[in-house]
Amino acid sequence: MTVKTIATTPFDGQKPGTSGLRAKTRVFMQPHYLENFVQAVFDTVGPLKGKTLTLGGDGRYFNTEAIQTILKMAAANEAARVVVGRDGLLSTPAASAVIRNRKTDGGLILSASHNPGGEDGDFGIKYNIPAGGPAPESITGAIHVRTGEISEYRILEASDVNLSVEGETQLGSTIVEVIDPVAIYAELMRALFDFEAIRGLFASGFRMRFDAMHAVTGPYARAILEDTLGAPAGTVINAVPLPDFGGGHPDPNPVYAAGLMAEMFSDAAPEFGAASDGDGDRNMIVGRNTYVTPSDSLAVLAANAHLAPGYAGGIAGIARSMPTSRAADRVAAKLGVEAFATPTGWKFFGTLLDAGRVTICGEESAGTGSNHVREKDGLWAVLLWLNLLAVKKIPVADVMAEHWATYGRDYYSRHDYEEVDKTAAEGLMDDLRAALPDLAGREIDGLTITEADDFAYTDPVDGSRAEKQGIRIVFGDAARGVLRLSGTGTVGATLRVYLERFEPDPAKQGDDPQVALAQVSAAVQTLTGISDRLGRATPDVRT
Ligand code: G1P
Ligand code: ZN
Repeated sequence: MTVKTIATTPFDGQKPGTSGLRAKTRVFMQPHYLENFVQAVFDTVGPLKGKTLTLGGDGRYFNTEAIQTILKMAAANEAARVVVGRDGLLSTPAASAVIRNRKTDGGLILSASHNPGGEDGDFGIKYNIPAGGPAPESITGAIHVRTGEISEYRILEASDVNLSVEGETQLGSTIVEVIDPVAIYAELMRALFDFEAIRGLFASGFRMRFDAMHAVTGPYARAILEDTLGAPAGTVINAVPLPDFGGGHPDPNPVYAAGLMAEMFSDAAPEFGAASDGDGDRNMIVGRNTYVTPSDSLAVLAANAHLAPGYAGGIAGIARSMPTSRAADRVAAKLGVEAFATPTGWKFFGTLLDAGRVTICGEESAGTGSNHVREKDGLWAVLLWLNLLAVKKIPVADVMAEHWATYGRDYYSRHDYEEVDKTAAEGLMDDLRAALPDLAGREIDGLTITEADDFAYTDPVDGSRAEKQGIRIVFGDAARGVLRLSGTGTVGATLRVYLERFEPDPAKQGDDPQVALAQVSAAVQTLTGISDRLGRATPDVRT
């Protein structure tokens, strides 16, 4: 086995976005593209000599090839050990759990999350720090700089490692340790939740459907829900991870998990439904005839976390991404704990979690999690819901009605305009940004703007600063619109419009959210002219 030093030249645009480097799979498959980025990571966080890494991915097309390449590069860079999930699989939350449990010097996660996979789909890679979370911008920025100056990378000339069998293999001077991808994660879940109570719930005839969307959570959900908690076989559907996710779009929302939604709103609906995304960090929660928005789910989980043994002592604080609804803040106020609004992306929660300032975090984009790992965690949210349902013994619809009666309801919806012209989308944002100073006091479509700004954030723990994180148009306590451009897309631009309206009166909390939000949606439209400027009459996706 010889170490080869390969001459290379930089690729443009190897800039990690909201969550790592994402690009079309074919872009990643071209010679040197993956290698350049991986060597840039090693150069930035290394030297790798003597260090340990966690490695795994969501099983999408090119996952296995990329894992083999990274193993050979880690060996050539003299890593002491690489802990890798069997068959190259690790869900994102499980990877975070392994980094923490095995105390590795960080890890590499291969995933483009909820983006479609396959040869014509998307691929991605990100580096997570030893605390288990996504690298902060100071590190991703340095990696990006390094990708721009790279001239060579190192790789071991060796045959592929057998990843289908657990155990240790020597690769050069590096030990490759193949582990069960589920075990460490499953033990962590057992420590947090009342498995006896949940087992009792299933034993009483409670039915659920978990749609793993042919993505990485299938093996985790089967092992925990069916094999451990006694949910009947068949509770988990689309449970086998496929390289192209069965041709689907592995994003757990009412649009892409339409089959599950149809079942949950049918006469034969089970009591509870859930879905997770490509890499298992997102979740969707549905009760019989009841869709729970991610913003509401975050608030309900925070309000009821004390019902699970792992959080019985109460929570320290709650953090949400800024565009997430203000429902979580209302819970924090009632509990008398701190509430934080951070920029979009899980990496901004890390410092608050590490410092013990918050216990529960969430994003409107179907991400919820806690201090048990440093990633959002789809199955964790599902288990916390099951734990609270096992204690409360009432339907999901009643949980929501009770919650809104106590805190008021924040009607919420996100409207996405996908793959639009980048210049047009950036122009829209630039013009709106320029108009911000004159907006306060203006009345639009019957709503008065009280505040309008471009969200900037100073991390309360390390003082780091993030700017241009979304434009907020606030209509007093009543309503809010937020606009931002996605940082995870790979084609054109995606404009996200986040809409919310507060309704304290229980008699008025039963409306269709799109109807309840029509006025604020119209006001944002009037203010920005989205339809004309982007040439789209309606959004592509409403969640
Ligand atoms: C999206 C979500 C964001 C999430 C990220 C990674 O990023 O909006 O909340 O953290 O995916 O799952 P965006 O495409 O909006 O930049
Ligand atoms: Zn994801």
